[in-house]
Amino acid sequence: MSELDLIIRNAEVATATDVFVGDIGIANGKVAQLGTVTADARRIIDARGRLMTPGGVDGHCHLDQPSSDGSVMADDFATGTLSAAFGGTTTVLPFACQQKGNTLRAAIEDYHRRAHGKPVIDYGFHLIVSDPTPTVLGEELPALIREGYTHFKIYMTYDDLKVTDRQILDLLALARVEGAMPMIHAENDDCIAWLTDLLEEAGKTAPRFHAESRPTVIEREAAHRAISLAELIDVPVLIVHVSSHAAMSQIEQAQSRGIQIFAETCPQYLFLTADDLAAPGFEGAKCICSPPPRTRDDQEHIWRGLRTGVFQVFSSDHAPYSFEGTSGKRVAGASAKFRAVPNGVPGIETRMALLMSEGVMKGRIDIHKFVSLTATAPAKIYGLYPKKGSIVPGCDADLVIWNTERPFTLTNDRLHHNVDYTPYEGMQLSSWPDMVFSRGELIIENGECLGQRGRGQYLKSARRSAGRSAVA
Ligand code: URP
Ligand code: ZN
Ligand code: ZN
Repeated sequence: MSELDLIIRNAEVATATDVFVGDIGIANGKVAQLGTVTADARRIIDARGRLMTPGGVDGHCHLDQPSSDGSVMADDFATGTLSAAFGGTTTVLPFACQQKGNTLRAAIEDYHRRAHGKPVIDYGFHLIVSDPTPTVLGEELPALIREGYTHFKIYMTYDDLKVTDRQILDLLALARVEGAMPMIHAENDDCIAWLTDLLEEAGKTAPRFHAESRPTVIEREAAHRAISLAELIDVPVLIVHVSSHAAMSQIEQAQSRGIQIFAETCPQYLFLTADDLAAPGFEGAKCICSPPPRTRDDQEHIWRGLRTGVFQVFSSDHAPYSFEGTSGKRVAGASAKFRAVPNGVPGIETRMALLMSEGVMKGRIDIHKFVSLTATAPAKIYGLYPKKGSIVPGCDADLVIWNTERPFTLTNDRLHHNVDYTPYEGMQLSSWPDMVFSRGELIIENGECLGQRGRGQYLKSARRSAGRSAVA
């Protein structure tokens, strides 16, 4: 038996299906042996009594993504992936966004340039298709899917991104033929525009009115429509960032009818409510995201959906806009109208620890569900499994060793993103990743990043195929 690079001994290893106490032998960045490892290794780490999970796969985050309002994201591929790594995430899937009038290829090339030499962890890209021209549908997108860009987002709202129902049908039909996974942002754009005008006419422009401009019925209707379009084409889709019981019910009903609808939710829909948008002054802008945070009752239903399997994916939807300065939340002025505030909240580093602390440690979900939601299912749905998302022989040795014994108060100054706030400031957490391994390399230890900037590798995704289940 040749020498291994690393053995982690006696860890309590949790996957989406199993828990066992044992050793993990690592060679050439991959899990080589599991169980009782008798071989020798250049390095041995004793993890007795410590919980180990697969490194996280953040299936939805935004890094260095330009936008039409002139705002600039605070995190690029260096700071964003550094922050992700500290939080136990070892794979990220940010978005390469097509500008209307431009090609998809131009978007991909631009994002590869943006990422070049920067990521600390492995990364792939979702496409955003905002302009499905005949060339995009007939040539570009099929070619890109075959090259490994197998998942793309469709927006039902935002002027510069939204497509029509007819265009959605074209894209879903293409996804069906090519084996791609469409993701849908489900909100009714006309309703939002109409309500926003009404609120503005009444002088209601403060951050808290963002929630009133996007009530749950708007999300429910769009989710229903997205599901109906997917049913018509008979193709699986994933509804991203589901915020409300109303939208979740549509998904639950579709799933109970046997339709393959996948769903994602995010920390902001478990830990924030519309009341956070009503914080004094302009503070509420920190929590403006779309769909908006809802009520405590919605939060309880979202927890139920995580527990019972309505949701397969728990992502950050990290959208890093700083609060101070003029490039983020205040790009349109120090107390701009809510419609001009960039949408999104930061959370790439806190995603895993929030769900471990509030979900697993408080008994709301079990450890298998945690692993599935944060790693295994997104890896499967986005064509990265079994390389990513689990701990099995032959997979990349992306691993997290947790500290579940040192409760602490979360403050922004302990985070590594480049954003000047966290919406979860002051929360008490019970768990945090102590050691993070990416392809067998110890990249995070004792609050230090040991991984070099630029070491992250680009990941191609596999296409969906009949017989390959997309669920964990
Ligand atoms: O408000 C949000 N979610 N901003 C990020 C962009 C998106 O739609 O995911
Ligand atoms: Zn979205
Ligand atoms: Zn997003």
